[in-house]
Amino acid sequence: MNDDYVFINEVGPRDGLQNQKTIMSAPARLELIKKLIDANFPGIEVASFVSPKAVPAMEGAGEIMHGLNENKECEISVLVPNLKGFELARDAGAKIISVVPSATETMNQKNINMGLEAAINSSCDILKETKSIKLKARGYVAVAWECPFEGKVDKKIILKIAEKLLLAGADEIILADTIGAANPSSVGSLIKDCVNEFGQDILSVHFHDTRAMALANVCAALTEGIRKFDSCIGGLGGCPFAPGAAGNLATEDLANMLYQMGFVTNVHLEKLPKIVDFCETQLNTSLGGRMTAWLSN
Ligand code: HMG
Ligand code: MG
Repeated sequence: MNDDYVFINEVGPRDGLQNQKTIMSAPARLELIKKLIDANFPGIEVASFVSPKAVPAMEGAGEIMHGLNENKECEISVLVPNLKGFELARDAGAKIISVVPSATETMNQKNINMGLEAAINSSCDILKETKSIKLKARGYVAVAWECPFEGKVDKKIILKIAEKLLLAGADEIILADTIGAANPSSVGSLIKDCVNEFGQDILSVHFHDTRAMALANVCAALTEGIRKFDSCIGGLGGCPFAPGAAGNLATEDLANMLYQMGFVTNVHLEKLPKIVDFCETQLNTSLGGRMTAWLSN
């Protein structure tokens, strides 16, 4: 892969919308996804197959999958919390499946109603199923730096979980800073260890911007050779089960910074402010990373 190319995986339709006060309907989410495809994102997480009782905003994942044509240019992924979610996603035609174990007992309990060991085992079972039918598999490790319930997380636990997910078939590990508690030093430190253990090509990062360090954290990750990032259009996002989880790193800020640093993303920057506008109208709230106004000019 060209060292200057950075893959932006847009997670707005999933992480961005799962915890908004106003619920965006499935047809509106589909419209958003089509706009994101048109802006040339190489990857989009379009939905999660979760319990509508737990996350009402994600209802209609099947409808979204149904409304999307096969798209060879864009990697369309979905998130699943358990085997039932995997089965629903598979039956809806998903081609890329993400599992989401967290690194602590309490976060797993709060998020997916399983303990740490059960969450890892269940994720590994799903990954094996995913690979057995030749689908692509992504493994998040949530609260990779800090848990809202148990505090700082030991790097050894992250390495262990990542190793298990990879052995079970994950094509990619996404280290997730669920509550935006990482800083450039802690990002560099964990990623260095992960790169030493697993290599940089299968690693990706997912930053929330709670403490305004997400862009700085991206720079720390770039320095360690990471070339794949999740982000959310308009800086939307947050996990409903992780207190203090503010919005994700805003895609427009990430894409613009990478462009100005000389990296190639192929994302159409000029189309992003209009997509932010669309989300603002749908959600009836003001959004946008720091770059939205500047990009509009
Ligand atoms: P549970 O209540 O333990 O589930 O919830 P259960 O197995 O006991 O089943 C209860 C009912 O839910 C049953 O229905 C099941 O069929 C149904 P009933 O018989 O009562 O009619 N059910 C489902 N329905 C739809 N989809 C499913 C599913 N599973 C069971 N997959 C469960 C467990 C995992 C379902 C629930 O806790 C849940 O849906 N949690 C979702 C958690 C979530 O979406 N969190 C946010 C995403 S993760 C995140 O944001 C972090 C990330 O961004 C990275 C980062 O920032 O860290 C990725
Ligand atoms: Mg998240």
